[in-house]
Amino acid sequence: MDVFEQGKKLIDALRAGQSLTFDDFLFLLEHRNGEIEAYALCAARRCAEANFGRNIYIRGLIEITNVCKNDCYYCGLRRSNTNCRRYRLTDEEILSCCHAGYELGFRTFVLQGGEDGGFSDERLCALVRQIKALYPDCAVTLSVGERSKEVYQSFFDAGADRYLLRHETVDEAHYGHLHPAELSPKVRKECLWNLKEIGFQVGSGFLVGSPGQTLAHIACDLLFLQELRPQMIGIGPFLPQSDTPFGQEPAGDLELTLFLIALLRLGHPRALIPATTAVGTLQEGGRERAILAGANVVMPNLSPADRRKDYALYDNKLAEGAEAAESLEFLRARLSAIGYQPVVDRGDYREK
Ligand code: 5AD
Repeated sequence: MDVFEQGKKLIDALRAGQSLTFDDFLFLLEHRNGEIEAYALCAARRCAEANFGRNIYIRGLIEITNVCKNDCYYCGLRRSNTNCRRYRLTDEEILSCCHAGYELGFRTFVLQGGEDGGFSDERLCALVRQIKALYPDCAVTLSVGERSKEVYQSFFDAGADRYLLRHETVDEAHYGHLHPAELSPKVRKECLWNLKEIGFQVGSGFLVGSPGQTLAHIACDLLFLQELRPQMIGIGPFLPQSDTPFGQEPAGDLELTLFLIALLRLGHPRALIPATTAVGTLQEGGRERAILAGANVVMPNLSPADRRKDYALYDNKLAEGAEAAESLEFLRARLSAIGYQPVVDRGDYREK
């Protein structure tokens, strides 16, 4: 059997709902070529269309604080970055973002932030309760890092529907290469399992092309997601941020990212998979290409316009045009140009 036939067989198995092994994933990654890519992307696009039509779910992203106690080597919000102008939104500012978002047609609000002690667990719970009371037809997603199971439970009891926490990389040694010693992949994984157990719709994912990453690491990430079965999967290329230790490292590869989106779509047919800002930042038209590779979510920025550039996870992060929630019409036009449309819908995870 030649390489294409073998690759095709694995992609077909994934599409048929079978689990792949580490060796299977590694084979696909090591032998990825134009032909295999085209086959995977085409199958993934059809899979997304069969499950969601040409609908793209939109989430209003509110970056509530860029203060972070962690010191991840890749992230511009790391605590050691003294060039980052720190901000923390007030509850009033956050509620006014929700108000603007609701008017625009958003039915999911994603509250994302660094691990900031200024947002106590109680404050977050109260905020979630307030948003759910004002907008009972909306989903609230939290993305505020690692917390205890009890705290996650209190977020859930306050009405939060979903939680985003990327695992970033599942390999111990690679995790240690990207994070200071006080962070561990074990804790991160434990958080994810806790979130699932509590009943959140859970999102995870990893960086593509982060420094030191090998194809074997990626195969482990795919295997971990196959085991976790998160309802949402966000992946994006690593992009250097000049004020971080990895500021001079090369960005992740777009073609590899698209191939991975396609494999994730095939292995997780009902998952909500965003065309991430990082993909759009890496290449003009990257967002559209991610959608054509099987992504079905976009997360325009609802944060106050004057704060957006301070949420600098990486250099040149897009916050304008189709990335800006207030330019929904522009996004609509961009999606329509490739035959898709944004929908006013919570866009919950549903098993068939
Ligand atoms: N490049 C790409 N993505 C990054 N993130 C953080 N820093 C970077 C970077 N330099 C991603 C992480 C995190 C998410 C909020 O942003 O994966 O989970």
